[in-house]
Amino acid sequence: MFTLLSCLLLSITTANADDGYRLWLRYGPLPKSVSDRYAKQLSSIAVAGNSQTCDAIRLELTNGLNGLLGRNTPINTQGDKGSLVIGTPSSSAFIARLPLSRELSELGPEGYVVRSIKSGKYSTVVIASQSDIGALYGTFHFLRLMQTLQSIENINISEKPRLRLRVLDHWDNLDGSVERGYAGHSLWDWSALPNIDPRLRDYARANASIGINGSVLNNVNANALMLTNEYLQKVAAIAGVFRAYGLHVYLSARFSAPIDIGGLKTADPLDPEVQRWWKIKADEIYKLIPDFGGFVVKANSEGQPGPRTYNRTHADGANMLAAAVAPHNGVIMWRAFVYDMKPGYDRAGAAYENLQPFDGKFAPNVLLQVKNGPIDFQPREPFHPLFGAMPRTNVMPEFQITQEYMGFSNHLVFLAPMWREFFTADTYARGRGSTVTKVVDGSLYKQRLTGIAGVANTGSDRNWTGHHFLQANWFAFGRLAWNPDLTSTTIARDWIKMTFTDDPTSLEIIMRIMLESHEAVVDYMTPLGLHHIMWGGHHYGPAPWWDKERRDDQNPVYYHRADAKGIGFDRTATGSNTISQYHEPVSRLFSNLKTCPEEFLLWFHHVPWDYRMKSGKTLWDELALYYQRGVDWVRLIRKKWDSLTNVIDPERHEAVSRKLEIQERDAVWWRDACLLYFQGFSKRPLPAGVEKPAHTLEEYKAKSLAW
Ligand code: GCU
Repeated sequence: MFTLLSCLLLSITTANADDGYRLWLRYGPLPKSVSDRYAKQLSSIAVAGNSQTCDAIRLELTNGLNGLLGRNTPINTQGDKGSLVIGTPSSSAFIARLPLSRELSELGPEGYVVRSIKSGKYSTVVIASQSDIGALYGTFHFLRLMQTLQSIENINISEKPRLRLRVLDHWDNLDGSVERGYAGHSLWDWSALPNIDPRLRDYARANASIGINGSVLNNVNANALMLTNEYLQKVAAIAGVFRAYGLHVYLSARFSAPIDIGGLKTADPLDPEVQRWWKIKADEIYKLIPDFGGFVVKANSEGQPGPRTYNRTHADGANMLAAAVAPHNGVIMWRAFVYDMKPGYDRAGAAYENLQPFDGKFAPNVLLQVKNGPIDFQPREPFHPLFGAMPRTNVMPEFQITQEYMGFSNHLVFLAPMWREFFTADTYARGRGSTVTKVVDGSLYKQRLTGIAGVANTGSDRNWTGHHFLQANWFAFGRLAWNPDLTSTTIARDWIKMTFTDDPTSLEIIMRIMLESHEAVVDYMTPLGLHHIMWGGHHYGPAPWWDKERRDDQNPVYYHRADAKGIGFDRTATGSNTISQYHEPVSRLFSNLKTCPEEFLLWFHHVPWDYRMKSGKTLWDELALYYQRGVDWVRLIRKKWDSLTNVIDPERHEAVSRKLEIQERDAVWWRDACLLYFQGFSKRPLPAGVEKPAHTLEEYKAKSLAW
């Protein structure tokens, strides 16, 4: 049986290794002057309460302070006196006496205050919440202040999450493989479960430390076996570990489960037998897992079953499931990733056409889960037009933390800037200032059920994410889910200090690498609005020539449409006109070649090769120079990283160096393959400053970069 002691041992045994296992919770020793000061301020600590979560708080503090301060700091579990007091008004008489009740109730069950309170010459830091989970979040916040060397004097912090459901989606299969996973196998070992791998507690800790409160365990391309009692018992065991950390378990439900495992002849959502089956299934799940979150459903998409098989609507399907989980306060996250192919169809407009007409038709406990952009997690996409188009529906964004289209776990890409670009985009749904953030946090349409999902990049690799730097994307997702207004700089700075170094010069170097990385990847993969020109199937490496997929709208040639005249997808009135799905003036600005942001030019327009860009260069020259710029950037950061040899521990330094080498190889590959291929249409020479390709187009076509 897993105990707190073994968890402590696990943390201690890994404490000296720099294999990245400890993520941003390394708790390495702080500079002596700082740790002495903190130690003086934290002479006595009291954590009130006796739930599993309170045990988790004590364990985290013990570990954290031992590591950071290099000394054992005893924690008082009985009384509630000390220079640091953590608890709730019901667990701590000290906290109950403070005038906090109004504030705590406004902050809600997950919110907290971290506050210095003076009485006479004594000063106490209080971490208080309405619930133990809130106190745990507050504790992580407090530890983060120390990890990032901030003052713990005169603290006055009050926090509450802006989004209610902050969920990681794992695309994990029952055989241990992970769809689009690049960091080893699934973290859930279904054959060993319900025996628990101690690592699961560290997974839960990491999530709680950044405020993630849900985990969908299985692939959206779901196997109905997941819902059999045998597997539900295993799920319950996982939920048992996660509970202390406020992490709710969800499952992807296969819509045809009543047929697959229930022996029914149909999965028609309006059939009373089907409705009954789901109700009984939900009751069974909640009996085993009382805090079960609910279901995620991918329906009538990429071959998955769904209500449309029975001539029913998406709303019929979602609402039937919603009724089954509603008595238990469960939710349904119904995915909007629907794109059925019709002749002449533009995939970018499909989700809107399929789902927007159902605005106001979904049950109150349904959230429509919409990818950030209208295609599929491309290096850069404009925001999905469904944001701002469904005022009477709970709409939640879905991000992809795993890098299906961005170099797997080989390329260093910090995704926070891309996500911030999405959040700050103005939908103009209710006039200027109707940002995506306001649509999703409930401030524009006043919906109370809000959320966000991120497709996880975690796996069984020792460092969790396959590349040390990609831990930062897990971290950033959690931080932005808690507060979408946080800047990329703040997130990067915290992460670097917690994970790598607080040396100011090195910090600036790493920060620059991270903050520039996304733009650079766009440069060497899909500049100026190009998209989906990756190799078919695995999506790693360039293949703009690819036309072998069965569906047109999965082929690169469908997306870039290069010909003798120019390149790009015309989505204006002269083309598919899906640009009209955006509100005015967004639609008008995107429609006009002159006002369309150049980063989306080829997303919305088919543009002549000799079109003059804002820089004065022709489109062809500009495109080529963007590809070159991306390559140059990777070369530059390899040098920058090399300069940190003495700052970063050798194990992680070397691992990152090896990845950067691959990234440079791939960036060159991208530049050469794309430019050679597009040159076949543009018939123009490469401009000065762009290197001559290393291989011929035929050579690039002959070899996939994937594995
Ligand atoms: C992409 C991805 C699939 C995934 C799908 C989804 O198309 O390639 O592997 O199943 O997205 O989000 O459902």
